[in-house]
This record gives sequence, structure tokens and C-alpha cells, in this order.
Amino acid sequence: MEITADTKICIIIGDPVEHSLSPQMHNAGYKALKIDDKFVYVGCNVKRGQLGDLIKGVLAMQIHGVTVTIPHKVEIMKYLDTIDEVAKKIDAVNTIINRNGTLIGYNTDWLGILNPLQKLTTIRDKKIALLGAGGAAHAAAYAIATGGGDLTIYNRTLEKAEKLAKSFGAKAKSLIHLPEVKNADIIVNTTSMGLHPHEDETPVPIEFITERHIVFDAVYSALSDTKLLKDAKKKGATTISGIEMLLNQGYAQFKLFTGHNAPEEKMREALLKSFTHES
Ligand code: ATR
Repeated sequence: MEITADTKICIIIGDPVEHSLSPQMHNAGYKALKIDDKFVYVGCNVKRGQLGDLIKGVLAMQIHGVTVTIPHKVEIMKYLDTIDEVAKKIDAVNTIINRNGTLIGYNTDWLGILNPLQKLTTIRDKKIALLGAGGAAHAAAYAIATGGGDLTIYNRTLEKAEKLAKSFGAKAKSLIHLPEVKNADIIVNTTSMGLHPHEDETPVPIEFITERHIVFDAVYSALSDTKLLKDAKKKGATTISGIEMLLNQGYAQFKLFTGHNAPEEKMREALLKSFTHES
């Protein structure tokens, strides 16, 4: 299908954004549904402090949809006309829809956590250890609370864990208590440990992981496993990689952008293919 003057533009804004694989994922979805004449998706590097200009541009050019990523997910909220209740609770927006000049903010990151977990298990009453209390942890805490999990948040800075725990009826602990994750059913990492350039770091020592665990590393940087996931596999635990988070938040966002259910397998194939090209 051809891009025409009538094609709706969707963009991802962030800094850096050049290595984002969201364009490949979304455009593959448009192609699979033969709506690639109706929608196109590209990346735009938008620096901190430029959101006011970005919003003017979105309105003037009638950009249809915006994916919001680091470092703008919180700051963007004050520029929007309406923020959906879920995004308000998570306190971050990763998706904007432009409905005839009204900008509406949503959050689909929590579905990137909830859906992969629910494919493997029921969350209700499971003991879930969430590591980290930053932006990604907010989405994860909302997902786990919504699923009815018994949530404990572990963070280096205890005050941040306490604040997050309070919003979601969870417990908060400092990292001194990390050995307790041995008794959890599910471990979800949202800290930046294990990310480039700290690939040899892990938030959970291998001796705390058992074959009973489901270990979800919500952080991704490449196709290869993080140390946390490698260790979890060595111990025979069930693992979920951050690629699942990227895909599942993207499927939900695709539906918001286009109104169509995401062609999940085609989007997955495209993402994995672009990972191979990157690495
Ligand atoms: P994001 O928005 O991607 O979640 P963030 O807000 O910077 O990123 O949060 C990063 C998380 O990783 C925080 O929970 C941070 O702990 P602090 O709240 O104590 O800063 C955690 N983190 C980063 N590096 C860490 C390290 N070396 N050891 C333990 N926790 C770490």
C-alpha cells in the first residue's frame, strides 16, 4: 500500500530514540492488516524542555498518535487535555491520541507486565517481589495490584518503595531484606541493573532463585538474556524477558492508534527480526 497525503502519522518521542524498535513493530502491524496506506509510524528525537513545542507541532500537523518514552512520560502529562484514569494512577503517560485537536493520554505499559504474566499463571494471591520503584515499577505495581497479587516492593531507596507501596496497598522493603525473595512466587525486576553498560550486574543473587520462581526482567536492551534471566534459567526457573513487555504494551497501543486488534505474531516477528539486525 502507498503512503499518501491522507496517511495518518504516528510518532515515538524520546531521547535517545534512534534505537527504538517501535517503528518496525507498528509499521509491520499496519502492513499485516493492509492499513499501511492509512497509518505510518516514525521516530522523533525530542529533547527535555521541548515538550511545549512538540505539542504545538502535534496539533498543527494533526499528528494522530504519539508514543511517549524516556525521559518524557511524566512531564508530558501537564500538556494534555485529558488523562485516562489508569494513566493517572500510574502517574505516567506512554500513549497520546489526538482526537480532533483534543489530546488524550493513556498508559499501556502495565499491560506489558500483566499480559505476559497472565499467559503463564494466575496472579491473584501470588507472592510477588517487585524490584525497583522508578517509572517502570509504577506500571508494574498497578498491573500486579489489578491482578490481585500479594505485592512487596524492594528498593535501594526505601522511601521511594514506601511511597509506591502506599498507592497500591503493597509492602515496602529495603534491599537488606532481598533474601526474602526466595519465598516469592514471582520476581519482577524494573531496576536498571543489568542494562548496558552494566551487563554483568544482577539485582538478585543467583542463590535466591529457585526452579519454583517465575522471573520477569522488565528491562530489555538486546535479544540476549540479561544476567538475571541467564541465572534464572540455570536454576530451572520460568523466565519472561523484557521483549514481552515491549511487545505487549505495543499491542495495546496499536489498538488505541488504529482501532484494530494488533496482529501480534507479525509484530513479534518484525521486532525479533530488527533485534537480529541490530545486534
Ligand atoms: P525507570 O523509570 O526506567 O524505572 P528510574 O526511575 O531511574 O528508571 O528507576 C531506576 C530504578 O532502578 C530505581 O528503583 C533505582 O533505585 P533507587 O530508587 O534507589 O535509585 C534502581 N537502581 C538503579 N541502579 C541500581 C543499583 N545499582 N542498585 C540497586 N538499585 C538500582
